[in-house]
Amino acid sequence: MKRIGFMLAVLMLPFQAIFAGEGMWIPMLLKQLNEKEMQAMGMRISAEDIYSVNQSSLKDAIVLFGRGCTGEIVSDQGLLLTNHHCGYRQIQQHSSVENDYLTEGFWAMSKEEELPNPGLTVTMMKKMEEVTAQVLEGVSDEMSMEERKQKIDENSKALIEKAKEESGFQVVIKDFFIDNQYYMIYNEVYKDIRLVGAPPSNIGKFGGDTDNWMWPRHTGDFSVFRIYVDKEGKPAEYSAENVPFKPDYHLPVSLNGVEEGDFTFVFGYPARTSEYLPSYAVNLITEVTNPPKIKLRETRLDIFSKYANTDPKVRIQYAAKHAGVANYWKKMIGESKGIRRLNGIERKQDFEQDFTAWTKKENNRYQGIIPAFEDTYSELEKYSLAADYMREGGFGIELLSFAARFNKLSEVTKETTDEQLESMVKSAQLASESFFKDYHLPIDKEVAEALLEIYREEQADDFRPGFLNLIDRKYKGDVSSYVDQLFEKSIFTSQEEVDKLLQNFSHKQVKKILRDPAFEAYSSLRNFYDDKLGTPMKQLAARNDSLQRLYMLAQMQMQSDKRFYPDANFSLRVTYGNVDGYHPADAVYYNYFTTLDGIMEKEDPNIYDYVVEEKLKELYQQQDFGRYGDAKGHMPVGFVASNHTTGGNSGSPVLNADGQMIGINFDRCWEGTMSDLMYDPAMSRNIAVDIRYVLFIMDKFAGAGHLVDEMTVIQ
Ligand code: ARG
Ligand code: GLU
Repeated sequence: MKRIGFMLAVLMLPFQAIFAGEGMWIPMLLKQLNEKEMQAMGMRISAEDIYSVNQSSLKDAIVLFGRGCTGEIVSDQGLLLTNHHCGYRQIQQHSSVENDYLTEGFWAMSKEEELPNPGLTVTMMKKMEEVTAQVLEGVSDEMSMEERKQKIDENSKALIEKAKEESGFQVVIKDFFIDNQYYMIYNEVYKDIRLVGAPPSNIGKFGGDTDNWMWPRHTGDFSVFRIYVDKEGKPAEYSAENVPFKPDYHLPVSLNGVEEGDFTFVFGYPARTSEYLPSYAVNLITEVTNPPKIKLRETRLDIFSKYANTDPKVRIQYAAKHAGVANYWKKMIGESKGIRRLNGIERKQDFEQDFTAWTKKENNRYQGIIPAFEDTYSELEKYSLAADYMREGGFGIELLSFAARFNKLSEVTKETTDEQLESMVKSAQLASESFFKDYHLPIDKEVAEALLEIYREEQADDFRPGFLNLIDRKYKGDVSSYVDQLFEKSIFTSQEEVDKLLQNFSHKQVKKILRDPAFEAYSSLRNFYDDKLGTPMKQLAARNDSLQRLYMLAQMQMQSDKRFYPDANFSLRVTYGNVDGYHPADAVYYNYFTTLDGIMEKEDPNIYDYVVEEKLKELYQQQDFGRYGDAKGHMPVGFVASNHTTGGNSGSPVLNADGQMIGINFDRCWEGTMSDLMYDPAMSRNIAVDIRYVLFIMDKFAGAGHLVDEMTVIQ
């Protein structure tokens, strides 16, 4: 218990200046830790206005959208804004050839036209409280890792059960500062969320993967939803009887725009950062595993593009796959470059020297941490790499990923009940339908050849799945003839044959799966993982976790006058900074905002990512921006600021000094993407779509001004 008292004392000490912008702060602790600084930076509201347990506050308007994005309520009728890329799946699911909402956009002109989305939820945090003492009750330093974990799980479970019963909310306990602090979080989960509007993709995804992670940016990355509740105002599954949700608070939206230097903050759900890693871990990520992953992804992307550029059908089939592979491909490049530019590994090493000197001087129990990290990470390296080759190389082949979906069926026996069998067959049928809808065999075959070449080349033969060695033994190292055989003999390349297999499937057909070369290759990957990687990786990860917990604690003790913020963990956070341009390279300066003029500059009817909608061009030519244009007569589109954000912050509101919404966060600048490991005030910028562009598109472009009328617009 001593430790917790100490940590609280650490948190309450007066702070030294930190880099403006760095940090993802716990809303509940803003008053204690950040309010003064935020106000000194220009904020005109109080911490209590942002997060209060006793009265309505900004936090009542912020939600976790689905499982990975943020959304915000902007009207007293539960109207919700998030990103286009966050609502993408829903927009796609409502689309058909006749009503292609992805391409054309969608706008409900009345509540009756709003579209339900079964399965989509919105989660609102009601309150949080620290429960470190209760969670760690009975935990001692003498316990083994397993004992410790078991005790913590036990305590947490009991606490959650009790809190659930007393509050009626969904309750979770999350760890902060790497298992050093625990908070209980009470959530309300809403289940009737309807699609209200989405711009066409050439607005919502303008610039596509070409502009992704980049500034200057011109994407209108937003979509509109509404929360519905039952007549009592309680969360409920979809029902036609449900009514729009009346929130305790909704964000006012400001048409006053942003100026360089303005204070801004972002309120949302950042997913994961790792700011307190040792140099060995940063090296593993940015120098060891990122480079081969980048190469393997690039190999696939090049092949995708080659086919997509000549065949429009293939382009559609591979658009989502391309976006999925490309997103983190580009992120990893930016991240590794950024760490190199910052000399991030050396910086960490310098810190580790000071740290070790401190542990010696204090003669404390942290002396062995850095050498222990060195040990675990040097051992982890080969396993991590092998796992990445497996994931990005092996399973980058669509055929093998698809064959994996037949794993359950491959284990069917005489004992399997009809009911079990039926559900397995059903799910295999569904998998098969969606697979073949977007499968282009020539692409996958070329991908398979290219990936397996690299895989064979770069993984030592005693450390790779068996089927790769088969290529040496049976095909004399000729990858291409192996791949020919694979694609010729496997039934998983043909929808007809898969259909045939699934008709009247029984344990008698199991052999057909087991003997299939694609399934064999998949099994070989899986066995390799089970036999050689899984166990040591789990052990090393557990050792690193417990080292990391101590290292975190030790860093906080060593730098007892520094104000620490916990790594992102998908809990609600506030990050704040200033509207600010940046120098991405020598002699280059990027201004802090973009306008519709830039969309017209990028326009190219022959390049899919840069097609501009006729209607938008008209509005531009007539300079018909209504009340949304800026003082100089331009239509603002995006802006950047130094808020420290990460994945999960997509859809978060960007707010001004008065707590009014001025933009929707949707990306980060490439040069600053290493901020998940190390924030750089000179380069780390979040990218937002200006709220004026959002409202302009709704009102002037889509004719859905009734939605703007619902909002509290500040002018
Ligand atoms: N880079 C943003 C994020 O990490 C946006 C991704 C979606 N957009 C795209 N063009 N793929 O998630
Ligand atoms: N686009 C990201 C998301 O989906 C946000 C960008 C980032 O990683 O900061 O959450």
